Amino acid sequence: MRKFIFLSAIFTLVIAAAYFSSCKNGKTEQKATNSEDSLKKVQERGNYLVNHVAGCIDCHSKRDLTKYSGPVIPGSEGGGGFAFDQKLAMIPGVVYGRNITPDPETGIGSWTDDEILKALTQGISKNGDTLFPLMPYTNYNHMAKEDLLSIIAYIKTLKPIKNKVPARQLMMPVSMMYPPAGAMQASIDGNIRPPETDKVAYGGYLVNFADCGTCHSPMTQQGPDLSRKYAGGYPFDGGTFKVNSANITTDSATGIGTWTEEKFLTKFTPYREETNYNFVAGKENTIMPLSEMAGMTDDDLKAIYAYLRTVKPISNKVEKWPNK
Ligand code: HEC
Ligand code: HEC
Repeated sequence: MRKFIFLSAIFTLVIAAAYFSSCKNGKTEQKATNSEDSLKKVQERGNYLVNHVAGCIDCHSKRDLTKYSGPVIPGSEGGGGFAFDQKLAMIPGVVYGRNITPDPETGIGSWTDDEILKALTQGISKNGDTLFPLMPYTNYNHMAKEDLLSIIAYIKTLKPIKNKVPARQLMMPVSMMYPPAGAMQASIDGNIRPPETDKVAYGGYLVNFADCGTCHSPMTQQGPDLSRKYAGGYPFDGGTFKVNSANITTDSATGIGTWTEEKFLTKFTPYREETNYNFVAGKENTIMPLSEMAGMTDDDLKAIYAYLRTVKPISNKVEKWPNK
C-alpha cells in the first residue's frame, strides 16, 4: 500500500513536471483566464443577490422616498447613511445603514472576508458590537455559504465612498433585541441552496434572502410579529406618504390567495423600466424596493410565487394607504 502511494506520488510529480514545462506559453494563460472567469461568475451571482434579491443596496444607500418605491440615489450605492427611525419603520430609536463600500476609513475596506461573514451571519461587527437585527443576519444565518461568499466578493468591487455614518441611538440595549438562543446557528457550513428545479424550496430560499417576511409582518411594541409572518400590516411613514404592508398569505379575502402567477409577476416586472418609478409619487407610494426587486429573473419570481402558495392563509384586512 505504502509503495503504491509512493509510486503514484512520483507519477504525479512526473506528470506535473511535464505539464508545467509544456505550459510556458498557451496553457498557463488559459488557466489564468479560467480562474478570472470563475471569479467573474462569483461576482455576477453576488451582484444579482446584492442588487436584486437580498436588498443590501436598498438599505445601505440613500433612497429618494418622494419617487415611486424609493429608488436608490445613483452614486450612493453601499455608502450608507439612510436613517431608519421611529417614524419611518417604528424602530425604537434610529439606526443607519452603514457604509459597506471598500473605503478603508469609513467603510469596510479593512475588513477580512471572515469578519464580513461574521457580520452577515452572526450580526457581530468587526469591533465586536452586536448589530441591530433590522440587518437581516437572522436570515443570512440560514443561507448557503457559497452565496454569502459571492456577496462578499461583489461588495468588494463597489466604488469606495467616503461617508462617515452616524452612530445609532436606541432606547434599549441592542443585546435585548438579539435573537433568542437557538434561533442562530453557530456554523453555517451545513446550509444548502436548494436546486432551482425544486421551485417551492428554492422560492422559500429566495424569500428568506429577500426578507419579505419582516416587512410583511404585523408590527408590535416588541417588533415584527413573526408568528403572523406574511399577514401584513407593518406601518411605514415615508414623510410624503403612509403605507401599510400588504397581506401576502394565501387568504382569498384579505391576502393574495386569488392572485395568478401572472398577476404576481406584474407586481414587479413593470419596474424594469425607469419611467415607471422615476416620478414623484405623492400619497400612493410604497416602501417596497420595487425598482431593485424588478431585476429578479422571471424564473426566480415564479419560484417565489410557488413558495407563497404554500404559506398558510391568515385573515388580516390591511388598508394599504390609510390616508389616501
Ligand atoms: C433591511 C435593511 C438591511 C438590509 C436588507 C441589509 N442590511 Fe446590512 N445593515 C443594516 C443596518 C441598519 C446596519 C447597522 C445596524 C446597527 O447599527 O446596529 C447594517 C450593518 C451591516 C454591516 C456591518 C457594518 C459595520 O460597520 O458594522 C455589514 C457588513 C452589512 N450590514 C452588510 C450587508 C449586506 C452585504 C447585506 C445584503 C446581503 C445587507 N447588509 C443587508 C441594514 C440592512
Ligand atoms: C421594505 C419593506 C418590504 C419588503 C422588503 C417587501 N415588501 Fe412587499 N410590500 C410592502 C408594502 C409596504 C406593500 C404595500 C404597498 C404596495 O403595494 O407596494 C407591499 C406590497 C406587496 C404586494 C402587493 C400585495 C397587494 O395586495 O397589493 C406583494 C405581492 C408583495 N408586497 C410581495 C413581496 C415579496 C414577495 C417580497 C420579497 C421578495 C416583498 N414583498 C418584500 C413592503 C415590503
